[in-house]
Amino acid sequence: MDHFNFKQGELFCEDVPIKNIAEKFGTPAYVYSKATLLRHLDVYQKSLESLNGIVCFSVKALSNLSILKLLDEHGSGFDIVSGGELHRCIKAGIDPKKIIFSGVGKSADEIALALKVGILSFNVESESELKRIYQISKNMNLKAPIGLRVNPDVDAGGHEYIKTGKKENKFGISFEKALDIAKEYSNKSELNFLAITCHIGSQILDLKSFKNAAEQMLDLANRLDQIGLEIKIIDMGGGLGVRYIDEETSAPAELMEIYQDVFSGTNKRIFLEPGRSIAANAGILLAKVEYLKNNFLITDAAMNDLLRPALYKANHQVVPLLEQNISHNKVDVVGPVCESGDYLAKEAEVEIKEDEFLAIRTAGAYGFVMSSNYNSRPRACEILVEGDDFRLIRQRESHDDLFKHEIDLLK
Ligand code: LLP
Repeated sequence: MDHFNFKQGELFCEDVPIKNIAEKFGTPAYVYSKATLLRHLDVYQKSLESLNGIVCFSVKALSNLSILKLLDEHGSGFDIVSGGELHRCIKAGIDPKKIIFSGVGKSADEIALALKVGILSFNVESESELKRIYQISKNMNLKAPIGLRVNPDVDAGGHEYIKTGKKENKFGISFEKALDIAKEYSNKSELNFLAITCHIGSQILDLKSFKNAAEQMLDLANRLDQIGLEIKIIDMGGGLGVRYIDEETSAPAELMEIYQDVFSGTNKRIFLEPGRSIAANAGILLAKVEYLKNNFLITDAAMNDLLRPALYKANHQVVPLLEQNISHNKVDVVGPVCESGDYLAKEAEVEIKEDEFLAIRTAGAYGFVMSSNYNSRPRACEILVEGDDFRLIRQRESHDDLFKHEIDLLK
């Protein structure tokens, strides 16, 4: 469910006509609905209550400071994967005790900063990383909270690039290795083994994979209990798929029923790291049609603004701002970047004139965060809608922003 709907034939975000936003702030622009974001967070939180769990929003999906602050104010925790995301969370005023740090390549500096501010847990992805964390904690005279990220060898997720739970992927540690590591390091006073964690992929439509992974995680937790290492948290990662066009999806509540079923008998807390299922359909990319050419709508938004179609052949629905402009004529929506891979949608069912606007839906997750300055295009602005009000939460980049870090060697 989202809050982008036609009302009397005109596309609205909550109670704001999208056209008003385009006219005020220009295009391309990312527009987010506060009510949609909070609704999704709330569904997860309510269902996790009985499992004493925390929702840790995956910052990589949508990392604007105002959005992080909003989710923080509504009780979210956060899953980060870089020092940059940690800095964002700190800047947004988030308590580090609500942050878990995932990722296969944490640098020494990133680990030291996370230890210094006192994060909730490191989701450790290899023995080498554990050794590094151990060494740094020892040097800093601090105790590191540890979650072992295991790889349940489950084949789940959309595009090959976003599957993470198969043994040939770079993520996590095998179950056997995790047991060995836990035995070997559990007596180190610098390490506090708190959690086991997994994340089996993204845009997962089949709930069976989550069930399979959850059962394996419960089994591992029991085996750790048996060797006297009683972890307190099972973190199931994110991964729930959303509807871009006509995918058969499941609601977060259905996924939560599975977790409640599998974990009902355990005293462990259950953590989740959803990104896409909270943010994707809470955002659109708003663009203007510059030119009509043959069967192409050439817009002022491009692959640098929304990379998913070019990178994963992802499909996003395109809608006009007036319902009457939905059409059976199919057009390709493309950007001005000099590559044939620069498209936003194939066979979109819209009939729009030059200088009119269109919306690319389900762009709230992995949209702005993956944008770039390719072709020296300034990044789009971001706008948050709340009821009948809307405000800028990131300015459109200027041309000066494009080269502000470059050094002039030519003088
Ligand atoms: N936790 C970890 C450790 C992750 O690696 C990810 C996503 C998540 C949680 C959140 O997963 P979600 O609930 O959003 O599926 N750029 C790609 C998606 C990459 C996902 C990477 N990991 C895309 O646009 O489809």
